[in-house]
Amino acid sequence: MKYLVTGGAGFIASNFIQYMLDKYPEDEFINLDALTYAGHLCTVERFQKYLNYRFVKGDITDRQFIMDLFSKERFNVVVNFAAESHVDRSINDTSAFVLTNILGTTNLLDASKQYGVERYHQVGTDEVYGELPLDRPDLLFSEETPIHTSSSYSSSKASADLFVLSYYRTHGIPVTISRCSNNYGPYQYPEKLIPLMICRAIKGAKLPVYGNGLNIRDWIYVDDHCSAIDVIIHKGKEGEVYNVGGQSERTNVQVVNTILEKLNKSKELISFVADRPGHDKRYAIDFSKIKSELGWTPRICFEEGIAKTIEWYMNNEAWLREVTAGEYQEYICKAYGI
Ligand code: NAD
Ligand code: DAU
Repeated sequence: MKYLVTGGAGFIASNFIQYMLDKYPEDEFINLDALTYAGHLCTVERFQKYLNYRFVKGDITDRQFIMDLFSKERFNVVVNFAAESHVDRSINDTSAFVLTNILGTTNLLDASKQYGVERYHQVGTDEVYGELPLDRPDLLFSEETPIHTSSSYSSSKASADLFVLSYYRTHGIPVTISRCSNNYGPYQYPEKLIPLMICRAIKGAKLPVYGNGLNIRDWIYVDDHCSAIDVIIHKGKEGEVYNVGGQSERTNVQVVNTILEKLNKSKELISFVADRPGHDKRYAIDFSKIKSELGWTPRICFEEGIAKTIEWYMNNEAWLREVTAGEYQEYICKAYGI
């Protein structure tokens, strides 16, 4: 099988490529990435030793380029991770989110249609369901929960999902969608909560927590997300959406306190800052569908995953230096004034 994995120089897709190279040595993997601020070659240089892996620099919004690539490579499976993925950035710049997350997805769908791809998998997010209230712990997002987005990020991802499902219905493209909760683990760009807090806590810098820090996310270790996508591609039913969750709900303050405890740092580093506009209160996933139909469950609990993640960041200073060398400091300054 020949796979196209888009966004493979970013966080989750690079972990997915590693997972698949280890599990399917007979398959071929082409990693297509535009190398935006979030994509880095140092994240994927470890794959160069694999003869069944190739990197292609390119943009999924470039329709002609995508058509030419599909015509040349004749992929069996497409797994679309490429996206603008950070909610905070989407607050000030909707256009990049519309282009990559919506137009990029439709380009991949058109190419999949034209060149007879056997499975198109869209990597979606639980953020398309909006938010749950904090005082109803019994409520969870199921695949039937209505789409109700809060940010340009989640709106663009929801739109992409609708296009994917419409290509199934109208054109019979063999699609699947996964909607996953918050990932953490190695190689995550330090703009998202967990890597940002780990990297800043290591340096003894202030930790900006939005609002009162009581918003809740359901955290999943990235390898568990990768195994879920693998099982959906191999056993999932065409035209279906599968929710994927980590069964690890934590408030943001709990997450940050855990990081501080593990690093033996003072809680005084926490600085409560202005809340994110449109900040979703709680995400929580009902993953009973993928569990009962495909036999998937998350394997790594939060305590184990966060310990592994902290250790990885402590041992990979060179990677961190490289990915924060560009516009990163400017972004942090502008976003937090610190
Ligand atoms: P990321 O920001 O770390 O990586 C995104 C990658 O996509 C980067 O390598 C970037 O260079 C590439 N890219 C961006 N625009 C591109 C374009 N136009 N053409 C080609 N490549 C482009 O993202 P991530 O956190 O790894 O998320 C990957 C996917 O998973 C996204 O679709 C995201 O919506 C989804 N997702 C993320 C999470 C999470 O917690 N991070 C949870 C659920 C779903
Ligand atoms: O739920 C899945 C989604 O999770 C993915 O689709 C997104 O790509 C991914 O970025 C993530 O979105 P969140 O907005 O939940 O993740 P983020 O790490 O940005 O924030 C997690 C929580 O931490 C959220 O409640 C906001 C808060 N936060 C975040 C940052 C960056 C802070 O308090 N301070 C911060 O500096």
